[in-house]
Amino acid sequence: GKFAREKFSSRNVFVFAAIGSAVGLGNIWRFPYVAFENGGGAFLVPYVVALLTAGIPLLFFDYSIGHRFRASAPLAFRRLNRKLEPIGWFQVLVSVIIAVYYAAIIGWAAWYAYFSLDQRFGSSLEETTSFFTGDFLQMSEESFSFDFVGNITIMIAIVWIGTIVVLALGVQKGIGRLNQFFIPLLIILFVIMVIFALVQDGAMDGLNQFFTPDWSVLTNYQVWIAAYGQIFFSLSVGFGIMITYSSYLKRKTNLTSSGLVVAFSNSAFEVLAGIGVFAGIGFLVHAGGMAWDDVQGGVGLAFFTFPALIASMPAGEVFGFLFFACLVLAGFTSMISIVEVVISAVRDKLDVNRVNGTLIVCVPLAIISLLLMPTATGLMTLDTLDAFSNQIGIVACALISILAVALMGKLPGQRDHLNAVSSWRVGNTWFVFLAATVVVLAITLFFTVRDFVVDGYEEYPDAVVNTWGWGAIAMVLILGIALTFTPWKKGLELTGVPGL
Ligand code: PHE
Ligand code: NA
Repeated sequence: GKFAREKFSSRNVFVFAAIGSAVGLGNIWRFPYVAFENGGGAFLVPYVVALLTAGIPLLFFDYSIGHRFRASAPLAFRRLNRKLEPIGWFQVLVSVIIAVYYAAIIGWAAWYAYFSLDQRFGSSLEETTSFFTGDFLQMSEESFSFDFVGNITIMIAIVWIGTIVVLALGVQKGIGRLNQFFIPLLIILFVIMVIFALVQDGAMDGLNQFFTPDWSVLTNYQVWIAAYGQIFFSLSVGFGIMITYSSYLKRKTNLTSSGLVVAFSNSAFEVLAGIGVFAGIGFLVHAGGMAWDDVQGGVGLAFFTFPALIASMPAGEVFGFLFFACLVLAGFTSMISIVEVVISAVRDKLDVNRVNGTLIVCVPLAIISLLLMPTATGLMTLDTLDAFSNQIGIVACALISILAVALMGKLPGQRDHLNAVSSWRVGNTWFVFLAATVVVLAITLFFTVRDFVVDGYEEYPDAVVNTWGWGAIAMVLILGIALTFTPWKKGLELTGVPGL
């Protein structure tokens, strides 16, 4: 095409960007709860096993595809074998779904950073819960709603404008610089927040609750599934992000050692978040604000429990502001990586420049996001999109991408590529781990689909689950196939791999 592929200026910039993608809401609000629910300290055993045998091998797999074929997910898979192009589009469309709701969570967190200063969310768990669902989201009982909440609409629009500005600046000046600045800032703020939590009364009880191992969980297969699920989600592997970022690396880049740095940084951040979150909850339990049985993850942790904790902690304004600022920083750098998957694919297919590609993708996505998220039913829509895109979409994308590449006999070539550029070489154990990963992914997918079919999701009305759950999955499949049959502009796909 007429536009040379953009590049990160150095490997370190890439590593920051990859850490920025990996470290997100999953580290802060998902890991602590999943670990607590699944055996505490003992959960670290399946977690580390999942990291070493599935997370890192899959990270290497994504890098090997993106870096070898130097293209967005659909074009990279097409260059591997033209039949594989739809896999890339499925990944792009799952990213579309995630981007639509991720913007809303970042917007909520931004409001809550501000609310922490005057603590208008109240102080008891009851008050903070009803503030979030009532005053803030203005939730309704209907299935679908077009009642918009003004403040939330404005903040989601701001998140999208920020996304457009960063991505229009391009790979190095936008994504690279943002992460070089935001990731160190995030680490500093987060460490201050954790120390703040650790010095409160009750913090040590929290750590005891968090780390005390329940070894009996090791024989429970659901705990192992939870560990693999956490690792896939947390490393952002299997659905195009790492393919896209690694396509912007120079020819000669040590891929495997970069991957190890990214993977271990992400896990370190996760364990640190567990310590901070449970020290905080320990304080709130100590202060009589809640019981250990009431511990929640996700939205409940960030928007019900934390506000209650902030209201009862000395200098809670500072603590609350730090916590929500960290959510915004971690979320925004992940958001950027998700949207770039889409922009990169559209630019490859249509051969458009960076600014046009950014606008072609972001304006429609922002409009969809603004139509669905700030309404009185936004939370339910978001929750359903999140469950189906993560538990079915990401898992299925990871599964079919490894399986297809393996069945076509292309894995040895990918291994050779990794080894040709990296200092830390992968051997045949890589194939064994990928095979095991396929098995785990298939089992996980089977149980998830069965549960959603049998039980629905979260007692939500069928119309809601059919629209934002199964409907979204059907949209990915149909649109993914349709995009595959759209012609490439200027035969870009035929030009082979640039710079080989
Ligand atoms: N890896 C991110 C986290 O741990 C989550 C994420 C999901 C990022 C999807 C990008 C896309 O929070
Ligand atoms: Na993560």
